[in-house]
Amino acid sequence: MSATAETLAISTETREFLSRTHKLFINGQWVDATSGETLGIIDPATEAQISEIQLASTDDVDKAVIAAQAAFKGEWSKINSHQRTKLMLKLADLIDENIQTLAELEVLDNGLPMMLAEYTISGYASDFIRYYAGWCTKIHGDTIPVSPAGVANGESLTYTRREPVGVVGAIIPWNAPIAMLALKLAPALATGCTMVIKPAEITPLTALKVMELVKEAGIPDGVVNLVPGYGEVAGAAISSHPDIKKVSFTGSTAVGQKIVEAALGNLKKVSLELGGKSPVVVFPDADIEAVTMGAIRAAFFLQGQNCMAGTRLFVHQDIFDQVIQNVAGVASQMKIGPGLDPSSQLGPLISADQRSRVMSYVQAGKDEGAELICGGNQLDRKGFFMEPTLFTHAHQDVKIAREEIFGPVLFAQPFGDSDLETIAAEANKSIYGLSGSVWTKDIAVGLKMASLIDSGQVSVNCHAAVDPAIPFGGNKMSGWGREFGQEGLEPYLKTKATTVLFSQPPF
Ligand code: NAI
Ligand code: MG
Repeated sequence: MSATAETLAISTETREFLSRTHKLFINGQWVDATSGETLGIIDPATEAQISEIQLASTDDVDKAVIAAQAAFKGEWSKINSHQRTKLMLKLADLIDENIQTLAELEVLDNGLPMMLAEYTISGYASDFIRYYAGWCTKIHGDTIPVSPAGVANGESLTYTRREPVGVVGAIIPWNAPIAMLALKLAPALATGCTMVIKPAEITPLTALKVMELVKEAGIPDGVVNLVPGYGEVAGAAISSHPDIKKVSFTGSTAVGQKIVEAALGNLKKVSLELGGKSPVVVFPDADIEAVTMGAIRAAFFLQGQNCMAGTRLFVHQDIFDQVIQNVAGVASQMKIGPGLDPSSQLGPLISADQRSRVMSYVQAGKDEGAELICGGNQLDRKGFFMEPTLFTHAHQDVKIAREEIFGPVLFAQPFGDSDLETIAAEANKSIYGLSGSVWTKDIAVGLKMASLIDSGQVSVNCHAAVDPAIPFGGNKMSGWGREFGQEGLEPYLKTKATTVLFSQPPF
């Protein structure tokens, strides 16, 4: 009998955490939502309800914004950058110390395999916060040589200061909850902003646990507020709020467009990290072993529920059959099961809805005449499991090659001998431009192709390299702006220019 999540042990602490009905975290306190509404949290591996949350209303978002504004003008503004660094490092350490509970909660909430949950916590979330903790003391303006109104050189001083924008809203998706939380939290804290955060309503658990750690780390009340709730209610209240100065969103392109509309009211800054349909381009000299495992990871990491996923695989015709056979061989052997079972390589999809969406793409692929090489079925057991799936077709004229599926479905297509511009044009035939990879031993081909692919990020001989210092974000309909790295601080800052004249101007 295969293991089910009920038969797999979780810690007493995790069990106790799950048994609560979770409140909202506003001004450093756990408070009841005014809506009176609750939502059951489902383990996607068992379909069982594992916990319950209260849902924030528009009024609750208002309260959170008032708390964030008071903290921004009050205590947080008096804390210097060295102290902010220390508080952030403390938070990062607490996240690492609580890895067991956080990882169990993430697996039960999202479905991903335990090893990946641990990686998104300790290899990613806490390191992300540490990386930005280092920036607190390195954010500064310039002095600029100028001659305003004809004043002689040296007779004036103009300098700029980089100031935090104020209260920031963060709207977070369900596909990598704690990682997404950290990547919004870290630059906001580093720049001295305060926050109102809305996790995805279906995956709020690690965010709720992190709020306990925010408090324990000594981050002042009101600096970080959490309002779990529906997108159309709490998310919309954040994106239209007149006192929120910036919204950072990761999620679907359709909701990204709604956020831009909602932001018009007070012209808040918006950064958007949206969908993708990224190309993986394989030249005939590439290392086939590396390509096989690289293509599997690119397509099926987080069950393919990943904006950077490499979901369009272009392989030179000389090695196409070999690569397809290898990828199908590995994919069909992947162990599918609950994330708590250490042998699982692929967990369930996030929800029944998401799986039906993905299965409708599988049907569309068949209907439009693409060839199904492996997978294509949902599993006949509890949990939203489905097989990793590979289709091939000669052209990208099918829906599965154009639209973001957000599930374990890979589309592959051969290409012949042609110039790099022609190959790149095929790879760029997408409304998206988030990630991409090129596989070859010829460094000139690799670098030239990388320059031709119209994406915010391109990797050579790996797919979607991630590090807090590597800027990340999309071209075309994949988004606005960049997160990560020094550039990731920009949306949280505004520049003030100050000029002093030492003598009066001649006219
Ligand atoms: P979604 O874009 O609706 O959800 C992401 C976040 O936006 C959630 O926190 C949600 O509550 C919030 N939201 C929803 N409607 C909102 C609104 N009107 N105003 C403000 N916030 C709102 O994504 P969904 O519906 O869960 O998934 C649908 C598709 O979106 C997926 O199949 C995938 O293609 C894409 N997606 C992409 C993600 C990425 O990382 N780029 C993450 C999640 C989904
Ligand atoms: Mg939605």
